[in-house]
Amino acid sequence: MSHTSFEQRVFSGVQPTGNLHLGNYLGAIVKFVALQETHNCLYCVVDQHAITADIQPPNVLKNNIREVTAAFLAAGVDPKNHIVFNQSQVSEHAELAWVFNCIARIGWLNRMTQFKDKAGKNKENASVGLFSYPNLMAADILAYKATHVPVGDDQKQHLELARDIATKFNQDLAEAIRSCGHEGDFFPLPEPLIQGSATRVMSLRDGSKKMSKSDPSDLSRINLLDDADTIMKKMRKAKTDAEALPSGVDGLQGRAEADNLVGIFAALSNISKQSVLNDFGGKQFSDFKPALAELAVTTLSPIACEMKRLMNEPDYIDDILRDGAHKAKTIARPIMDDIKDILGFIR
Ligand code: TYM
Repeated sequence: MSHTSFEQRVFSGVQPTGNLHLGNYLGAIVKFVALQETHNCLYCVVDQHAITADIQPPNVLKNNIREVTAAFLAAGVDPKNHIVFNQSQVSEHAELAWVFNCIARIGWLNRMTQFKDKAGKNKENASVGLFSYPNLMAADILAYKATHVPVGDDQKQHLELARDIATKFNQDLAEAIRSCGHEGDFFPLPEPLIQGSATRVMSLRDGSKKMSKSDPSDLSRINLLDDADTIMKKMRKAKTDAEALPSGVDGLQGRAEADNLVGIFAALSNISKQSVLNDFGGKQFSDFKPALAELAVTTLSPIACEMKRLMNEPDYIDDILRDGAHKAKTIARPIMDDIKDILGFIR
């Protein structure tokens, strides 16, 4: 049975690990906002994921959770008609993750490139949580039987794992699923939504590296809380090559930095890369960069301003998260109870 028989539902998450950046905004948050028009959406601040690498001091983590929430709201996520919450308030995520720890195979997790990147050379010393993290991510999505997941390109492999877990659960437990009264598959196979011209925003200092929260160089990324002068400076210093911009997208091949900046321009103005090149083909970066910087400032400044305002109202943000968690639980609890019945846990 295909997922078309499941009610369409969107789920996505962002880690509260500080330094929210343009990649998070264009790769994920902008999509969150647009999908609200057509789908029921859950947007989650995945705080349990944020302790898999380093445990942050509690006041820092709290602040980062509020910052991600503020970014959602400032960008246009609507917590009244959709659901905004932090993961740790809905215990079904961790409960289902345990089940998935027993469904997923070690060989599957061993293939995860993000674990290899994050654990680095010192794999033996990485936390077990960092290794099993994709199982928790699958649980985040499947605790709601979500069908669509807007993410950046770097999460594609984790989504494939979530689909593998859903498939194995559906197949291995098919008989129990049927005898508990469910017709067809229990879980949908969640579809990644990785679309547009900024699914992988690259570092401004090195077009071969992803823009990332953890890059030691702050010049490598535009942070959502950067002020106008900082954005201007970072764009001015962004690495480029010596050629003029090409007039067609084919001409961006082999020019990672040019491709990245054109992609950012396109995503920020919601047009194609070709449309950007229709205007800027043949021009030098000295013409293009100021236009890009101005566009980034115009788009991001109101968001930063609203984020700062919201951050000064922590009680308001915490109320939204608590309310969202209650709403999320009313969806996840009955699904988790069904899973307990399917597995044979007495309740
Ligand atoms: P995280 O917190 O690293 O990033 C949040 C979102 O931003 C996207 N992103 C990017 N997109 C384009 N260019 C970039 N340079 C860039 N950097 C980050 C990410 O792809 C992501 O969509 N594991 C996830 C969080 C998560 C999740 C989930 C997502 C946990 N559970 C369930 C979806 C569904 C993560 O670490 O994202």
